Amino acid sequence: MIDVGCGSGKELKQLAEHGCVAIGLDVDATALADCRRANLPVVLAPAEHMPLRAQAFDGLICNVAIPYTDESQVMQEIGRILKRGARGYLCYHGFGYFLRYAVAGPGFRMRFYGVRSVLNTWFYRLTGSRLSGFWGDTLCQTRARLLKYYRRDGLKLVESRTGKKFLGLPVFIYHLVERV
Ligand SMILES: C[S@@+](CC[C@H](N)C(=O)[O-])C[C@H]1O[C@@H](n2cnc3c(N)ncnc32)[C@H](O)[C@@H]1O
Repeated sequence: MIDVGCGSGKELKQLAEHGCVAIGLDVDATALADCRRANLPVVLAPAEHMPLRAQAFDGLICNVAIPYTDESQVMQEIGRILKRGARGYLCYHGFGYFLRYAVAGPGFRMRFYGVRSVLNTWFYRLTGSRLSGFWGDTLCQTRARLLKYYRRDGLKLVESRTGKKFLGLPVFIYHLVERV
């Protein structure tokens, strides 16, 4: 099993406690140092170019890491490293997540984060490119784009659900996919 964008290893720890052999992958060296201190196996690498063999994993989790990556490349990598029949548990921020920060974020910094993520998401929808620099650091995924990647990269959407909502829009989106 692999945890893509594992951060400090919250999910990795839970997987290990349930007897699951899992490794984490992330670009944040400080977060990975926390994982190593807890004896969790990790690799420092970008999700867009995972230094991992094709069809090596029988399971994957990716908890809110995709919004910070090149989503198209990461989906390609996910399709590449999963064995046929393997399942992936993916969690994305919904549009309500960013709207909530923009409207009701705690403090100016978080409100600005929400606003620029909304702007970047709309810019991406219109042009297919992110805004430059930190303006484009976070992107909200749309269902239509995700379904396009899944089709392209040999992934089938098995289950889709949303968590709580803000102004009627999902804050989190949960997808269970299977490598076909
Ligand atoms: C919101 S945190 C989630 C961390 C963890 N999955 C969790 O749920 O606690 C997003 C994580 O994605 C990682 N990340 C961002 N861009 C990445 C990339 N290009 N490749 C791999 N990881 C990335 C960040 O370093 C961060 O640890």
